[in-house]
Amino acid sequence: MNKEVIVADTKEMVRTKLKNEGTGHDWYHIERVWKTASKLAEKEQANSYIVELAALLHDLIDDKLVTSKDKAIEEVEYWLEGAGVSSKDTERIMDIIQTISYKGGNGRRLASLEAQIVQDADRLDAIGAIGIARCFAYAGSKGDLLFDPELSVRDEMTEQEYREGPSSAIHHFYEKLLKLKELMNTEAAKEIAEERHSFMEEYLMTFFEEWEAN
Ligand code: ADP
Ligand code: NI
Repeated sequence: MNKEVIVADTKEMVRTKLKNEGTGHDWYHIERVWKTASKLAEKEQANSYIVELAALLHDLIDDKLVTSKDKAIEEVEYWLEGAGVSSKDTERIMDIIQTISYKGGNGRRLASLEAQIVQDADRLDAIGAIGIARCFAYAGSKGDLLFDPELSVRDEMTEQEYREGPSSAIHHFYEKLLKLKELMNTEAAKEIAEERHSFMEEYLMTFFEEWEAN
C-alpha cells in the first residue's frame, strides 16, 4: 500500500469520527497537531510516516473520548491493519499513542524520536493563543470559573484529582500550561514553545491587571 494513501485514508477516518467532538479533541485539534508534528518531523529528521499516523490517531484512545480504552485500542489496531500498515509499524504507532498523554504530570522521557515529536506537537497545541482558547473552552464545558481567587494552585496531585478536583481556567495555567515549555523533548519544539510561553505570561499579566481593575 502507498504510504500517502494510508495517511490520507486515516485522515478521513479521524475527521469523520471527531467532527462533532466537544471536549477539546475536535478534528481541528488533530489537524493542528498533525501539521505541527509533520513540520517537527522534517526539522528533526524523523520518520514522518510514523509521526503523521500517530499524530492523526493520538486522541482516539483518550479515556475522555471512549468508554472502553481496550476496545478503542483494538479498533485503532484493526484500522491500521486494514489500511495496509505493516505489523512492525502498527506496533510503533500503538506504542506512541499509548505513551504520550500528560496525565497529571508523569515526566518519563519517551523512547523514540517519533513519540517525542507527537507529544511535543500535542503539547504545543495546549499553549499560546490556541492553548488559552482551549483552556477556557474546556473550563467552560466543565462548569469551572474563569478564575477563582479562593482556590489554591495544586502542586502534586493524582490523575483523578487533576481531572475532577475544583479548579479554574486560570489555575490550569499554573497547574499545567506554564510547565509545558520545560517538558518539550525536541529543540524545534522548544523554540516554538518559548514564544507561546511568553505570550501566555503577557496574557496573564493583563488578565490580573484587569481583574484588580487597575
Ligand atoms: P491531557 O490529556 O494532555 O492532560 P486534555 O486532553 O485533558 O490534556 O486537555 C485538552 C485541552 O483542555 C488542553 O488544551 C488542556 O490544557 C485543556 N484542559 C485540560 N484540563 C483542563 C482544566 N481542568 N481546565 C482548563 N483546561 C483544561
Ligand atoms: Ni491531543
